Amino acid sequence: MHASYRDEDDPLKTIVMTGGTSGLGEVAARQIARTPGVRLVLGARRGSQSAAETRPLDLTRLASVREFAQGVIHELGDTSIDGLVLNAGTQFPNIDQRTEDGFETTFAVNHLAHYLILRLLLPKLARGATVVITTSDTHDPKTNPMAPKELDPELLAHPPVQRRPTGFSAGFRAYASSKLCDLLMARGLATSEEAKAKRFTVVAYNPGLTIGTSLFRAWPLWARLAMGTAGLIRPMTRLATVDQAGQTLADLALGRITPPAGRLYASLVKRQLTWPDPSALSREDEVMNGLWHDSARMAGLSSPA
Ligand SMILES: NC(=O)c1ccc[n+]([C@@H]2O[C@H](COP(=O)([O-])OP(=O)(O)OC[C@H]3O[C@@H](n4cnc5c(N)ncnc54)[C@H](OP(=O)(O)O)[C@@H]3O)[C@@H](O)[C@H]2O)c1
Repeated sequence: MHASYRDEDDPLKTIVMTGGTSGLGEVAARQIARTPGVRLVLGARRGSQSAAETRPLDLTRLASVREFAQGVIHELGDTSIDGLVLNAGTQFPNIDQRTEDGFETTFAVNHLAHYLILRLLLPKLARGATVVITTSDTHDPKTNPMAPKELDPELLAHPPVQRRPTGFSAGFRAYASSKLCDLLMARGLATSEEAKAKRFTVVAYNPGLTIGTSLFRAWPLWARLAMGTAGLIRPMTRLATVDQAGQTLADLALGRITPPAGRLYASLVKRQLTWPDPSALSREDEVMNGLWHDSARMAGLSSPA
């Protein structure tokens, strides 16, 4: 299945984005910020090279998420948000990190903080707005043997304390699970009454393995060396470059690429954007509703809707 392209002179107006300061998100932010008629507001923990307006946001702190969302709502006044791009992500070689709110950090940054941003900014989304959430094919057992076969949000949020530090595979599993959560969050939004009534376009974007970003910075040396070797043979494997993955994210955010009817999962495979089925687990409504409900409680929202 291939993407369709919208008219070039139908620009979005205001786009709010996370993860625009590094890697493929930085490429996307630069593209978006220089698109005529587009105002890009970046939530970030440091300044950006792009022409975007940057507002402080630390996804390891739910208080920072709330301040960011309130600030955006206040500054935009009557202006609606035409695009929301939830791209920031992190990965650790273990599950030993905790945020100040007490959550395992991979789950907190990749899923919970983004869920809270989505919920807080939902009322500001314009009719016909586009929401792009960056996921990963590591969520799917078809492409990753360590992908989750079941989902227990409470266990992801508060893994039992181990006597010895946990290892690389635990960290990678936590990452894959957090990306499953992102896919379920996208489905939860897409199937909501509000999304249907306001005709949102919702995309869960998998850039595929993209070597050359900062995502693997915390990995142990052996894993980074293996990744470096994969980078050397990239031309043969036809992995997307950082520029290609970022450009595709920008095209999705700007509505230059829109999903075929009934599709939501945009997957960059061998440098081609495809719209396959995500994992079987991510298509289970009970799992999706359970995560939506649990995330609302964990993020301190009074109502799951
Ligand atoms: N690279 C891949 O192979 C791959 C594959 C599939 C999916 N993805 C997904 O693609 C997205 C972008 O990843 P990338 O590879 O481009 O990685 P990256 O270069 O590490 O970029 C991650 C972005 O997230 C931001 N971020 C991380 N923690 C944050 C925090 N606590 N508060 C605020 N911002 C934070 C980073 O900000 P700083 O600049 O401050 O660090 C950066 O802008 C992620 O969602 C990742 O899971 C990547």
